[in-house]
Amino acid sequence: MDRGSKPAVLVTGGAGYIGAHTAKALSERGYFPVVFDSLSSGFREAVRWGAFVHGDIRDARAVADALDEYGAKSVIHFAGLIEVGRSVVQPDLFWEINVAGTVSLLTAMRERGVERMVFSSSAAVYGQGGRGALETIPEGAAKAPASPYGDTKLACEWMIEAQCRAYGLSAVALRYFNAAGADPSGLIGEAHEPETHLIPLAIAAALGEAKPLTVFGDDFDTPDGTCLRDYIHVNDLAAAHVAALEVELPAGAFEAVNVGTGKGNSVREVVDAVGRAAGRPVPHSVGARRAGDPPSLVADASRAKELLGWEPVCSDLDRIVADALRWEAQPAYGSGRRATDRKAQPAS
Ligand SMILES: NC(=O)c1ccc[n+]([C@@H]2O[C@H](COP(=O)([O-])OP(=O)(O)OC[C@H]3O[C@@H](n4cnc5c(N)ncnc54)[C@H](O)[C@@H]3O)[C@@H](O)[C@H]2O)c1
Repeated sequence: MDRGSKPAVLVTGGAGYIGAHTAKALSERGYFPVVFDSLSSGFREAVRWGAFVHGDIRDARAVADALDEYGAKSVIHFAGLIEVGRSVVQPDLFWEINVAGTVSLLTAMRERGVERMVFSSSAAVYGQGGRGALETIPEGAAKAPASPYGDTKLACEWMIEAQCRAYGLSAVALRYFNAAGADPSGLIGEAHEPETHLIPLAIAAALGEAKPLTVFGDDFDTPDGTCLRDYIHVNDLAAAHVAALEVELPAGAFEAVNVGTGKGNSVREVVDAVGRAAGRPVPHSVGARRAGDPPSLVADASRAKELLGWEPVCSDLDRIVADALRWEAQPAYGSGRRATDRKAQPAS
């Protein structure tokens, strides 16, 4: 891609699900995304906008070289491990990649005078949600991560905040709720392996390409007994990153902002929406609750509007499911549950 005079933005983890959608949004906004990714869970085919640098965030020298080569003065940091369950059995790995990796990245950023950082944080920093079961969660709610994964996200927030104070970086940590959907182009979409997220699993079950879905508990204190979550379309999430990159902040400022819709959808509503979109019911059964699953995790999304001027525009559940279904029916990459011919990822 011809760079011209477009400002470069280093996008760590930009070959992954949310990073690829954000790289597209950056490109559409006139930036030159420089994807820096180890391809440990991402896909080379997902890097279609800007440049690609194959590297590991734990390698501060490689990050510094990439910043130098493209003259990037801002970084959007997605790279890391994401599976909550795996973090319980491999906490050391999560601290090494998510936390030590972020230390290395910050070192390179400080050396190269990076001025703005946007960090992928998570609703996992709130743990059980803290307050009354069905209330939305504001940024000031108690932080009590319920997993080593959530611990690493909170630790990174603290470290980034301290780095802002010490060195004059300005940063926004975006605490995502449940990212879902896919770009309508069909070029990029969700391709986690293993997939643990509800919407792709429900779609795979509806398409007969995975075993029937298990709904974990229908005896919660929620309107239909199943858990409530806040689903945010990945393109709305991508737009929030662009807004966080551009928001005026003084040097040294750190902001943590929820990115969600403020509206909860139950597991049963998701199952019904997938059934409607697929034109056939989702085969499913109700199982026991999973340990630690809070009944409701829904954002108070007012701060994102106030600070970033951001609001979701495509996060209606039926829209999310329609876009996810289009992708899942014909994914452009990912070995996935179905395709045998889609693992075209180059050896790393
Ligand atoms: N998907 C969600 O619903 C969700 C919710 C909250 C927060 N997040 C956070 O958003 C970020 C992106 O999530 P995603 O769903 O796109 O995950 P993903 O696995 O699709 O993307 C992560 C990317 O990081 C890369 N990566 C991993 N370790 C690396 C390393 N050491 N060096 C360089 N690259 C490395 C992977 O190859 C991959 O491309 C993660 O930090 C995750 O914790 C995601």
